Amino acid sequence: MLLKMSAQKKICSFVFLLTIILMFNAEENEEDGFCYKKDGVSECVSLQNFNLTRLDGGQVGDITEIFLQDGKTLQMETLNTRPLVFEIPDFLSDEECEHFINVANNIGMKASYTERQTTQKGISLMDINSDKKLSLAEMKLTIENGFDIYLEDEDVIEMYKLMKIDTNNDNFITQAEMKDFSPQKMANYLSDFLKEHPEKHSRYSKQAWLYPDQSTDEVFNLVQKRVSEVVQLPMSLIQLSDFQVVNYGINGHYNAHLDSSHIRKEQQCCDRGRYSKCRICRYMTILFYLNDVDDGGETAFPFANKDSINHTNSHLNRVQHLYKKCHEVDLRVPAEKRKAIIWYNHFIDESTGWMGDIDEYTLHGGCPVKAGEKWIANFWIKTNDEKSIDLDKIKNLLMK
Ligand SMILES: *[C@@H]1O[C@H](CO)[C@@H](O)[C@H](O)[C@H]1NC(C)=O
Ligand SMILES: *[C@@H]1O[C@H](CO)[C@@H](O)[C@H](O)[C@H]1NC(C)=O
Repeated sequence: MLLKMSAQKKICSFVFLLTIILMFNAEENEEDGFCYKKDGVSECVSLQNFNLTRLDGGQVGDITEIFLQDGKTLQMETLNTRPLVFEIPDFLSDEECEHFINVANNIGMKASYTERQTTQKGISLMDINSDKKLSLAEMKLTIENGFDIYLEDEDVIEMYKLMKIDTNNDNFITQAEMKDFSPQKMANYLSDFLKEHPEKHSRYSKQAWLYPDQSTDEVFNLVQKRVSEVVQLPMSLIQLSDFQVVNYGINGHYNAHLDSSHIRKEQQCCDRGRYSKCRICRYMTILFYLNDVDDGGETAFPFANKDSINHTNSHLNRVQHLYKKCHEVDLRVPAEKRKAIIWYNHFIDESTGWMGDIDEYTLHGGCPVKAGEKWIANFWIKTNDEKSIDLDKIKNLLMK
């Protein structure tokens, strides 16, 4: 990888230590902020002077050298600018990769998806052209939206047959035919169907969670420090992150999705363990590849470098359906052991210096694994759009 760093590529370097000093030299502001000492190192957070950071990507192909406090150097390459994506080869060591796989196996890997409780609310029928009947394409969209399951035409026809919905076999569901249509019956059918065809779910993988602030794991601690240095955010914020190890087998994939939600002031950000009536707020994603995949398993960004995003169009073209459409995506990052890729799910709000609008171009997912298996870890740096909520959390963490 590093051989790519040839003459035509700009090499920008910065001395990280200097940045640390500039960022955290806030002791004189005691009344507006707080300082604490950990391992003999003083970390200060000032309400006035502490903002989220966003690394400058420059141009595609630019390489930034990052000098770590432990004497090691990392090479960070700008892979893309819309969305901004960085790649750092050898972010982890082989031992660290294997350690995370072992820890996750010891915790126990569980199926990644939970079935959606859509039927309680009913499902929205996607009659796109308003002709009061559902074509096969419209039924597929209805099921994608309602149940997060990606069917083919023949799957839908089979469902009609077994559920006796489409009585005249014309592949259209009319209003009359809908009268006997029960979302609950369909949910039950699809739930059984998924057991036979787990790859039709938007997500087919197993996962385990690790929580930085609850961990006494030395390896994990070192990796967190490295993340903190690379993204230039203090350890206290890193420790509020979520870390998830994911394993994909053959056909394992994750259709394209956003890692965070649009800001809606009336709804709170989810806390750990609380995932209903809240929105997911993740400022950044750092994705680690923990092994080499024999074939497939790239991370794909379907909206990368598009002039604009037309949601109706992308919906109809099923661009998020990476299980089928990965090859159509320009920005695909191959899974390579030890590598990290980093992106910002949100922009910074200029008026607050804190988490702002979501960057919809970060829509991404995992292409199907064709041979071998795939292990990754997701490190999500979680913040709220309201700065004071995060600062309170950091204070609580530091007082512990
Ligand atoms: C998006 O695409 C649809 C379908 O092609 C089209 O009808 C609509 O005008 C487009 N919207 C915008 C904002 O371009
Ligand atoms: C943090 O962001 C706010 C709002 O944009 C700005 O006024 C302030 O100067 C920033 N602080 C630093 C240290 O950059």
